[in-house]
Amino acid sequence: MPFNKEKRVQPSPIADLPLVNALEEYRRRRPVRMHVPGHGGNLCPCPQFMDGLPGLDVTELEGLDDLHNPGGVIAAAQEKAAGLFGARHTFFLVNGTTVGIQALIAASCDQNRPLVLPRNAHRSVLGGLIISGARPVFLAPEVVPGFEFATGFRPEDLIDGLRQNPGAGAVLAVHPNYYGVTGDLGAAAAICHRYNVPLLVDEAHGTHLRLHPDLPADALSLGADAVVQSVHKTGGALTQASWLHLGKAERAERGHPSCGGMSIAERGHTSCGGMSPTYVDRERVAEVLRLLQTSSPSYLLMASLDAARGYLTCHGRETLDKLLGWVHEAVPIINKMPGLTTLGTEHLGSSGTAGHDPTRLVISVRQLGISGHTAARWLAHKYGIHLEMSDAFNIVAVLSLGTQKSDIIALLNGLAELSCQTEQGHSPRSPIPLPAGPPIPPQVLTPRQAWLAPRRIIPLERSTGRVSAESVAVYPPGITAIYPGEEITPAVVEYLQQVRECELHQQGAADPKLDTIQVVDA
Ligand SMILES: Cc1ncc(COP(=O)(O)O)c(C=O)c1O
Repeated sequence: MPFNKEKRVQPSPIADLPLVNALEEYRRRRPVRMHVPGHGGNLCPCPQFMDGLPGLDVTELEGLDDLHNPGGVIAAAQEKAAGLFGARHTFFLVNGTTVGIQALIAASCDQNRPLVLPRNAHRSVLGGLIISGARPVFLAPEVVPGFEFATGFRPEDLIDGLRQNPGAGAVLAVHPNYYGVTGDLGAAAAICHRYNVPLLVDEAHGTHLRLHPDLPADALSLGADAVVQSVHKTGGALTQASWLHLGKAERAERGHPSCGGMSIAERGHTSCGGMSPTYVDRERVAEVLRLLQTSSPSYLLMASLDAARGYLTCHGRETLDKLLGWVHEAVPIINKMPGLTTLGTEHLGSSGTAGHDPTRLVISVRQLGISGHTAARWLAHKYGIHLEMSDAFNIVAVLSLGTQKSDIIALLNGLAELSCQTEQGHSPRSPIPLPAGPPIPPQVLTPRQAWLAPRRIIPLERSTGRVSAESVAVYPPGITAIYPGEEITPAVVEYLQQVRECELHQQGAADPKLDTIQVVDA
């Protein structure tokens, strides 16, 4: 048979596809999606992109440019994204904000250089510390009373951190956190620049902030020097698609960071020369991204960034206008339901917190006498409402560009029944006392040194005085109890024992039951 006459045979369905089948089953149930990715599964940020996705899955063909050395269409798309966000330059990322954070740490800090950051920073930071060899200087975060999750650090603690660690390579802040809460980032930027240190910002949850004046200000507007955003979370792109923006601020002087970490006045001289005029060197970041990102970047992910940028430019403001209107109607209704309280700026009093993004709907269920996990499971099973996150006290819905009014109505109905049923079945629970977290332990090795050292697993009870080879973060409040390279103090052991007894969620430990811990085998 000639080639052009050959019939295309339709393949018969393949049964043995556990992952494909599970996804298909999720889609078939037509869930109410209040989780990331923020396109909600039904928004077409750009129809010419969303139709026939597999046909667009290609590689670096003629005319399609090269992510690692862009000079054509990828460069043009990045430039447009930089224009929308007021950035000096924007890099497209195909391994999420994770790779952007790691690249920024590696580009700003060499071996042993201090990196100042909050103790509740995302776990992607650990990879950046291991790659660079930087020495973390942790700032204690604030905790929001009643909701019990960790937020930002206090500006005065940042000043102390920079004073005590001259030569810091960078400060890393999170803005906003998973619960939509922001710290005083403007103050942090001013402090960093006074000390001639770049401010790097993990804005994984804040791509949409710049698009609406009623939302907290975005990090670049507040003076950040480099910002990474998970466009897949709240900007409408496909999962894993992020971008990294560089800010435009220039150093007051071009001193090398080895004499940084002190204000110009404290240092007593003005320059030791040789640095880029801006705080984060674009070529250095490009080099590290070439090192860390795949050599086969997905055109689907990159094109979804271009499509999301186009959608945000043309429709971002009006879509957020609508969404914020629905949120403002929904919040007082939820607050009238017995046992439920939504998080608002009135709950944020400390100097480490400044604002809240209302599209992150955080609802405390504590007074219903159930945990957030129970409430989230109940909403999923009974109402098909899938939330982004739950913890011991709260549930968290991501309301995004893809959210429909019908989704919010479904949530209100579900919450009303939850409130009513649970009220009848339980008496309000008095606040569960959380075990008090231990003081930040002494650092013996850098995370890189601890990572590279031989290790062994020992019972938690016998680990006092040893150097940890792993990190354990406890939720709530979401603060790391022990980091690789730190001494396991009696307070850490006691705290982790309490965490085990209370069955709090932990992240990072190889042994999820916390019976054992990995230590450096010295
Ligand atoms: C605060 C924060 N930073 C960074 C990340 C990593 O982002 P990505 O999943 O895009 O790699 C996350 C992911 O949930 C996050 O919550």
